[in-house]
Amino acid sequence: MAQKEDIVFPKGFLWGTATAAHQIEGGTTNNNWWLFEKEGTIKNNDSALVACDHWNRFKQDFDLLKKLNCNAYRMSIEWSRIFPQPGTLDKKALDHYVTMINELLKRKITPFVTLFHFTLPIWWCNEGGLLNRDKEHLEHFKQFCDVVAKTLKGKVKFYNTINEPSIVMLGYITGTSAPGQKNMLKAIKALGTTMLMHAIAYHTIKSVDPDAKVGIVHNVQITKPYNPNSIMDKLFTAFADYCFNGAIIRSLKKGKLPLQIFSSHRELINTNDFIGVNFYNFIRLSLRLKDLAVPATDNPVCGKKGLCVSLGWEPYPEGFYLAIKLMHNAFSHIPMYITENGIGTNDDSWRQRVLIDHLKMLHKAITEGVDIRGYFYWSIIDNFEWEHGYEPRFGLVHVDFKTQKRTIKHSGMVYAQIAKSNALPATILKKFPEEIYKPQF
Ligand code: NOJ
Repeated sequence: MAQKEDIVFPKGFLWGTATAAHQIEGGTTNNNWWLFEKEGTIKNNDSALVACDHWNRFKQDFDLLKKLNCNAYRMSIEWSRIFPQPGTLDKKALDHYVTMINELLKRKITPFVTLFHFTLPIWWCNEGGLLNRDKEHLEHFKQFCDVVAKTLKGKVKFYNTINEPSIVMLGYITGTSAPGQKNMLKAIKALGTTMLMHAIAYHTIKSVDPDAKVGIVHNVQITKPYNPNSIMDKLFTAFADYCFNGAIIRSLKKGKLPLQIFSSHRELINTNDFIGVNFYNFIRLSLRLKDLAVPATDNPVCGKKGLCVSLGWEPYPEGFYLAIKLMHNAFSHIPMYITENGIGTNDDSWRQRVLIDHLKMLHKAITEGVDIRGYFYWSIIDNFEWEHGYEPRFGLVHVDFKTQKRTIKHSGMVYAQIAKSNALPATILKKFPEEIYKPQF
């Protein structure tokens, strides 16, 4: 029974968790990230060779979803598994994904399927990858989307086309993620191609399955100048905001790719039935710093307490609210799903705190009229966190990577309670009475 003090979410709200194939499956050795990992680029020399062995243990992991009372699950289908070579379909791999989807449906869990979550087939990258916009080259992606949509028609209703185009672009800016390049012009081109792939995926899925709901996933990056009085910091922050948010929103609304002024790609306009929003942290930027972004340890509260441990990220629940509002202003005519939110930490009570404070903000946005229909925590299990390897633990469920043993964390139990009651129950809220961390501007 709901209590008066409970913070209740709308009826039918989806409570899910999110994953990506390469980060959990194991054996995804036919993609560009695998190549990148082999170059020794990953912290502690980790690789996704085994990851969480989810390819073999998916039933166990879906049972965990059930234990957490989740009614939705976001996963990706690995293009390089379905098409290990150009035009050569691996029917067995495809069937395996069908089995996975069936297992979710059996458990009454609504699948959200992502088509491009950072990994691309090696053969496609050898043809120029995201820097090649030839029609025949992009046709391969279309073929993949077509096969997936035809195969999953009637089973999967929700598709995410691309995961975080701005982060895909980082692989050409910082050099720290695949393909490990540092070239701003290439980055802009790669981002543009990624947006075109979104349009391809959208139109392909809709032509196969007009009832499907298709949307991109954008990682909203909230940035502030490190020194609010410095013109340089302000300019740099405005530029970063444009690259990470503005350019993507503009291309979806106006069909204009980055740097495109006079012409436009009209096929990009109105290509979202819903908008997916990922939100993690807040960054302060300064041109004078060695790393440009100020680490969270600089935050007098969470930094001093040593809370923002794993990635130096600075959690910012109010920023989550701002991110939702930003996307709502741009896409108020379509529903929103929070397709990812979470924290990589070994401190599980910090994870609970962060989860609750973010959900409060999400609820606030709903009460103000934002049509948010679901929330996907990243992630169900600890997994391979790209260039950071296995160190940052994002899971609601602990994974012992030596034995593959899964153990539900306390945060997982809290999430289960929230999902079951479709609310932030007063009993939980009482344990986390006020926010203990706020960024200091
Ligand atoms: C967003 C990405 O989609 C996901 O792959 C990653 O693991 C999380 N952020 C955490 O960094």
